[in-house]
Amino acid sequence: MQKKITKLQAASALFIMLTAPVFADGGSGDHGVGRGSDGGDGSRSNPSSISGTNNHGTDKTYSTEGFIDLNNAFFKKFGTNDRTCATCHVPAEGWTITPKGIKERFERTEGKDPVFRLVDGANSPRADVSTVAKRRNAYSMLLNKANIRVGIGIPANAEFELVEADDPYGFASKTELSLFRRPMPTTNLKFISAVMWEGRETTLDPNSSDCIYGTTACFSPISLDLSTQANHATLGHAEALAALTDEERDEIVAFEMGLFTAQVKDKDAGNLTEDGAVGGPKN
Ligand code: HEC
Repeated sequence: MQKKITKLQAASALFIMLTAPVFADGGSGDHGVGRGSDGGDGSRSNPSSISGTNNHGTDKTYSTEGFIDLNNAFFKKFGTNDRTCATCHVPAEGWTITPKGIKERFERTEGKDPVFRLVDGANSPRADVSTVAKRRNAYSMLLNKANIRVGIGIPANAEFELVEADDPYGFASKTELSLFRRPMPTTNLKFISAVMWEGRETTLDPNSSDCIYGTTACFSPISLDLSTQANHATLGHAEALAALTDEERDEIVAFEMGLFTAQVKDKDAGNLTEDGAVGGPKN
């Protein structure tokens, strides 16, 4: 069968902007770690929970471990550009990032916080970031939409061909498209069935019994996908020179899988756990 030729315009192919289905539009500075937490005094002592504010009220995160372990590998630098997982998965911003939080970080650091890195924070890795004004311009997708540039090529099994790429930022091409995406929240992962927006970190395993009903499409456990995903994030986003060890991957995955976040207070409805209501992350 002849492949369908699809002309992908910049608007549709290169700048797919997705908004994370999260609660947060607020959050605090300091990457939201410590502040807003139950015992939150900005110190690195492990809080029993972490709160975030959002357009509708307040959300809260608990861990099945009993506390949020701020010394977990999730908060450590393994790369060359000062980033940790929490650079883009901010606890008090629904474990993602928000334009409000990103703008605060830009103003506080004049666009030098580790989230502002050419590799995937800028509209183009070739952008001029030599002055504050130029950085404001170069990181506009991040500042306005909290979007990170996911640079990937067309999958080998794609059902379309790219015949033209037109990137106003002068970078994207057939070999590396620029897909601008909000980081997905690294919480409530117990409930997911695929990893990443388009599921590209979801792997097949013919020996698994987790299959699509009536087909031979069977999948690895999510924990395995999250483990390779953590490694890819370290090599990509954090520009690490070496892969994570198995122990480091396991530590990150155990941490992520233990997190549960939900709204606890709604501006109109009030406390969502009052009078026998079963809102909040513990329920
Ligand atoms: C520079 C920002 C950035 C950093 C740093 C980062 N991530 Fe992400 N993360 C993203 C983006 C963007 C996505 C969505 C990408 C996509 O779907 O193409 C994402 C997606 C994820 C997902 C998928 C969740 C789901 O529901 O499918 C997990 C899990 C995750 N990241 C974990 C991590 C871990 C662990 C680290 C540290 C080792 C990390 N991230 C570092 C930006 C980042």
